[in-house]
Amino acid sequence: MKDTLWQCIKEKKTSYTPIWFMRQAGRYLPEFRDIRKQNSDFIKLCLNPELVANITLQPLKRFNLDAAIIFSDILMIPYGLGQKVEFKKGLGPDLGDINLENIINADPIDFIQKLKPIYKGIEKVKNNLKEKNLIGFVGAPWTLLLYMLNKKPPKNNFDFNKINKDKNLINRLLKKVEETICLHVDKQIEAGANIIQIFDSWAGLLPKKDLPNFCYIPILKIVEHIKSKKIPAICFPKGIGENYVDFCSTVKPDCISIDYEVDPKWIKKKLNGIPIQGGLDPKILLTDKEKIKKTTENYLNIFSDYPYIFNLGHGVLPETKPETIEYIIQIIRDKK
Ligand code: CP3
Repeated sequence: MKDTLWQCIKEKKTSYTPIWFMRQAGRYLPEFRDIRKQNSDFIKLCLNPELVANITLQPLKRFNLDAAIIFSDILMIPYGLGQKVEFKKGLGPDLGDINLENIINADPIDFIQKLKPIYKGIEKVKNNLKEKNLIGFVGAPWTLLLYMLNKKPPKNNFDFNKINKDKNLINRLLKKVEETICLHVDKQIEAGANIIQIFDSWAGLLPKKDLPNFCYIPILKIVEHIKSKKIPAICFPKGIGENYVDFCSTVKPDCISIDYEVDPKWIKKKLNGIPIQGGLDPKILLTDKEKIKKTTENYLNIFSDYPYIFNLGHGVLPETKPETIEYIIQIIRDKK
């Protein structure tokens, strides 16, 4: 399918700025909260093909967006490998103890069987989406490894060396996680995803000297795998600051998603034409209309002569008013 978003990534030119939002299907939408109220088990919700399709399409019913992103979670991979994953209200994800041998020996066929409802959900969305892009996604190896070993989101006092102590363990786990990510990517593509985004949400916790081993090289393997399927890969190595440049020269993603700490003018000069996505701080969406307009237009102006996909510098916050999303889309569509 060669619509505007796809063209922006592959052909580096578009007639207008394509738009989608990370976490566009989520808690800021009352229709999502209604479904969530009746489904207290988040993993079970992600494994219900009808509801996955319904939630994925919710933002597209309301807004003029250029893509759907499948409603799922990066932690479905640890779940599929046999680690317990729970989402506790207000606390975020909570993972069970890891049994390394069981994880490393987990059978890919069992994994696919466990996650089959996700792929069925993707098929259902695809049948209802026809002319628009369907973005599949995975967590990057480092971010998944971090959740699997830390068992919850890391706090400020996170100590990388504590995780990096047993090098043999880390390397075996990393390899298994990489293989499983590729498998999950394949199944999403088979089911109908035509773009894949890789979220390395915790890349910013890595010391600079460890970025190649834990972030660039593992992601490069996944990106090469995705490219071999003739599908574009968007990478989001959140929080790595000036290292976005090294990331791009090593990984060569089809598109790079920037976080809100990256200076858009600076990155545009540094990247030699790799399409850029996102950037705007989601917290701006909680301020007033004037500020929202000014900030949005600033991104549009900077990237007016550059292949750019409008998105945020991280996910839509739950406190965001749906009307604000509507407002931003209008600003972008009016700009042309
Ligand atoms: O973008 C979308 O609309 C698609 C759906 C999506 C979800 N999670 C649904 C979700 C996507 C792309 C993700 C990715 C994800 N999940 C990431 C990478 C992106 C990022 O935010 O950095 C990470 C780190 C996770 C892990 C995760 N899942 C956390 C930390 C949490 C709890 C806190 C939070 O951010 O919401 C979740 C739960 C989750 N995943 C919810 C949704 C809609 C909220 C569930 C609820 O409590 O109702």
